[in-house]
This record gives sequence, C-alpha cells and structure tokens, in this order.
Amino acid sequence: MQRFENKVAFVTGAAHGIGRATVLRLAAEGASVGAADIDAEGTASVVDEVTGAGGSALAVACDITDTASVDAAVAATVERFGRLDVLANVAGHNLALEGTEPAEAQWGRQYDFTFTGATRCIQASLPHLIESRGSVVLVGSISGQVALGTAPYAAAKAALANLVRNLASDHRPRGVRFNVVAPATVATDRFIGKEALLEELKAIYPLGRVGKAEDVAAAIAFLASDDASWITGITLPVEGGLTAGPGHLLNLL
Ligand SMILES: NC(=O)c1ccc[n+]([C@@H]2O[C@H](COP(=O)([O-])OP(=O)(O)OC[C@H]3O[C@@H](n4cnc5c(N)ncnc54)[C@H](O)[C@@H]3O)[C@@H](O)[C@H]2O)c1
Repeated sequence: MQRFENKVAFVTGAAHGIGRATVLRLAAEGASVGAADIDAEGTASVVDEVTGAGGSALAVACDITDTASVDAAVAATVERFGRLDVLANVAGHNLALEGTEPAEAQWGRQYDFTFTGATRCIQASLPHLIESRGSVVLVGSISGQVALGTAPYAAAKAALANLVRNLASDHRPRGVRFNVVAPATVATDRFIGKEALLEELKAIYPLGRVGKAEDVAAAIAFLASDDASWITGITLPVEGGLTAGPGHLLNLL
C-alpha cells in the first residue's frame, strides 16, 4: 500500500517508540519523512533504517518546547523535500516532578510540553499544509478521555481533543484535516524495567494484551491518509477495548 507516494511527513518524537514506528510506517508507504526529535542519535538511527530499506528520510533536531527549534525543523523538512502533507506530533510523556517543586508547578510545564508543543508544530506546519490540503494527527492519550491518574498530563492531553475539533471547523474551507489518536498502554521504552507491570496490565484490556507502537502508527497513518478524507475533528481511541467497560472482568467472576 503506497498511500503516501510523493507526499512529505514531519514526525516529532521520531527517535523512539510510537514516533519511530510512525516514521517507519509512513516511509514504508512512500512518504519522505522529516524525522524530528531531541535525541540526535536515535533520530539518525531511524533515518538509517528508512534509507537502508530504500526509503527517504531526513533527521532534524527539534525540541517541541522551543518555538524557534520547531520552526527550523519544519523549514528544514520543507527545504529538503519541497512540500509538507502530514504533521504527526508524537513527542510527549508524563513529566516527573522536579526536586521539591509543588505539584501545581507541574501543570504549567506539562501543558507547555503537551498542548503548546502541539500548537507550535501546527503553527509551523500550517502554511504548508494549507498549500497541500494536508493533514494533522496529534498523539493524545486515553488518559485524556477517562480518569487514569496523573491529572496534569491527562488534562493537557484532553485539551488536544477540543483543539482539533475547533481547528477542523476553522480550517474546513482550506481542506486541512485535524485529528487525535488516543492510545492506552503501549509497550515502548517508557516501560523498560516495568515488564511485570505490562504483564499485569494485560488483564484490563478486553483484547488481552497491551499495545505495540505499530498499532498506534497504523492508526496515525490511517488518519493522515486519504482513506480518512472524510474524517476530521475526532479523537480515535487506540486502546485494546479499555474504554468499552469492565465486562470482560465481570465475566471472570
Ligand atoms: N506508551 C504509552 O503507553 C502511551 C500511552 C498513551 C499515550 N502515549 C503518548 O504517545 C506519545 C509517544 O509515547 P512513547 O511511549 O512512544 O514515548 P517514548 O518515550 O518511547 O518516545 C518519545 C520520543 O519523544 C522524544 N522527545 C521527548 N521530549 C521531546 C521534545 N521536547 N521535543 C521533541 N522530541 C521529544 C524522545 O526523545 C523520544 O524519542 C507521547 O505523546 C505519549 O504521551 C504513550
């Protein structure tokens, strides 16, 4: 399937986990990819993997908490490949408290990283996406849909859902689509050393397993592609049935 032939994507969080799987998926489907991350070594390695498989990718240094860095990374991608069709903002995680800071201080830092980080990427990409009638996919979290703890992270992810609804509406005449994918537990580097927890968590998923980065990359590729050309402003849960309810657990009683 070559849904991204002659198309160009900019992917943040490209060095590891879901972002890396997204780079590989989009490139395998024909996209030229600007692979953006703060981890230069990891980004170089995913670009090597893409080019080794005959694809096309460029490593770009990018910190989504820094507007100038995001602007430069998007510009470098457009300069190299001549256009931009897809923004996939994947970078993110639940920030830990620093030192003795009060929990409230975390709200602002998390919001800047998760929500404003996404808006920085959108602002830098939008002029190019308007030209190509392109597509934006933001990675939220199922934590943004239901209460699973970590309020600052969850609330910042929740804000993305209403951001894409409004941008979908605002930009409808320009043909740019905006969507979110909301994953539940995905076995990425974030869970290194927590394999026992991942094993335990399987039980809460009706599909009997936690997610793989490739599960989420497939959903991102779908929403970014013309297969989703009549879908905008949505948050797509990618969560193994978690929010269907606890029926499968009750059946065990
Ligand atoms: N893994 C999960 O269980 C899970 C669940 C729900 C949502 N998510 C979301 O999925 C996304 C990816 O998560 P993951 O598990 O693949 O994470 P990961 O830690 O494996 O990868 C995150 C990548 O983002 C990069 N990064 C971190 N800060 C950055 C910054 N300021 N600018 C640019 N790049 C930066 C890291 O270097 C890394 O390559 C995140 O937005 C996360 O919130 C993950």
